[in-house]
Amino acid sequence: MAGNQARRPHAIMIPYPYQGHINPFVSLAVKLASHGFTITFINTQSVHRRISRAQTGASRADIFSCARDSGLDIRYATVSDGFPLGFDRSLNHDQFVEGLIHVFSAHVDDLLGSLADSDPPVTCLIADTFYVWASDIARKYNLVCVSFWTEPALVLSLYYHLDLLKKNGHFGSQDRRKDMIDYIPGVGAMKPTDLMSYLQADDICTVVHRVIYRAFEDVKKADVIICNTVEELELNTLSALHRKQPTYAIGPIVSGFTNQGVATSLWSESDCTPWLNTKPNGSVLYVSFGSHAHTTSKQDIWEIARGLLISGVNFVWVIRPDIVNSDEANFLPTGFENAMKGRGLIVQWCSQIKVISHPAIGGFLSHCGWNSVLESIWSRVPLICFPLFTDQFTNRKLVVNDWKIGINLCDRNSITRDEVEEKIKYLMSGKSSEELRNAIKEVSRKLENALTSDGSSERNFRVFMEDIKAQIKKKAGVVFDVQEQTRGHVWAPTAVNLCEQTICSLSSNIN
Ligand code: UDX
Repeated sequence: MAGNQARRPHAIMIPYPYQGHINPFVSLAVKLASHGFTITFINTQSVHRRISRAQTGASRADIFSCARDSGLDIRYATVSDGFPLGFDRSLNHDQFVEGLIHVFSAHVDDLLGSLADSDPPVTCLIADTFYVWASDIARKYNLVCVSFWTEPALVLSLYYHLDLLKKNGHFGSQDRRKDMIDYIPGVGAMKPTDLMSYLQADDICTVVHRVIYRAFEDVKKADVIICNTVEELELNTLSALHRKQPTYAIGPIVSGFTNQGVATSLWSESDCTPWLNTKPNGSVLYVSFGSHAHTTSKQDIWEIARGLLISGVNFVWVIRPDIVNSDEANFLPTGFENAMKGRGLIVQWCSQIKVISHPAIGGFLSHCGWNSVLESIWSRVPLICFPLFTDQFTNRKLVVNDWKIGINLCDRNSITRDEVEEKIKYLMSGKSSEELRNAIKEVSRKLENALTSDGSSERNFRVFMEDIKAQIKKKAGVVFDVQEQTRGHVWAPTAVNLCEQTICSLSSNIN
């Protein structure tokens, strides 16, 4: 047994501390452990506290205890993100993200140091691609560095080729080009308005931009990149990335299906099933704008509410308490809750995958977070797209233009009730609904096929595991001077920071 244990790869997994990143990381942890990996999963103390508090019943010290009871070797540790537990990370977003760049890595470093005597020894780091320090930490502890990208390959490729976007004037120049972007390897011509919101912004020196500039240079130093996508959906983009460095599509990693009872929700879940059971098949529209967008205005919420009422459809609407950019607690139109009685259900949070897999659900009005897109395809539920920020605009392009499994709500950021009504009717009834349903069935089959034993994602997953094992062996032969590395800060400025400075000074010239 001891001999066997010693041969097990032992991976540390660190998700970005947001819901849409924690979910796929947990599912991947369970999957790797089912294939003989030892996993040490690290959540921030703040995330851990939120997950524990969101659970009904006794809070658990270790969210993986059930998975371990079923025989998997998944260990759990928490680490400070550098802020006190009571600090409001959502309200103080920029300060929090600064901390993730500059302080969090020191805590992770400390924790990894304390795991030095683990049995089996830690041999691999699987970190979220958005961490700017992953390759430095991996190098310090002589670990195979795996970058886990939780969004589509298209988005990865656009960030990866930021230099090309800049050189061609689609990013970071005073007169940004408005014509098609047609030079990114493996990516077909696309409109600049389909870029991620950060690449369309006027201010390109925000803290998030600094994360982007550094993270997408750091990813180039990873030994392996894994993506939560499917080869059949993004073949050319993935092939082009793979030519640069090993990149494996291993998705869909759909939250909740393989979690072995591991709690991940940061909010308490309401059970919608009894209500959904009373509704006819395909009659309910599910409405949710994900986990961390609070860019919706009260006006938008009003228009959506009115549009839902006049459309006449049944609906489940997830309204997180912090969805609106305002201090007002009550942001729904007066009388709305009475008017929707019998055909609308409002919850603060739910198990999304459970809800959209229910036969009563016929459509999803979504912000187009990547997990929501994958879950919707998996559940064969067509989408109305209302992207708010980050990758969601680019994800909409995939959904609406490329795969034709959803429709666009509007081209601008503000919406009208008539548009909402019109799009809901288009999605939920008649020939248009049937066409969208047929299209999503086709795409869903690709996802299912990818996960069969000889499907592309399963094959990639096996190659990925073999690749890691080979690299672990190779590194085991390398004499590594940890002392030498420890003398400097692992997050010390590198060439990447120079690139960041260049882009920012360029932007200050513009302004
Ligand atoms: C953002 C980005 O837009 C997304 O592309 C990135 O991968 C993660 O960060 P987010 O707002 O978190 O997205 O949305 P999404 O990616 O859809 O993830 C939300 C997750 O929360 C999904 O797994 C969804 O199932 C879950 N969820 C959402 C619930 O379990 N219950 C809810 O009520 C709402």
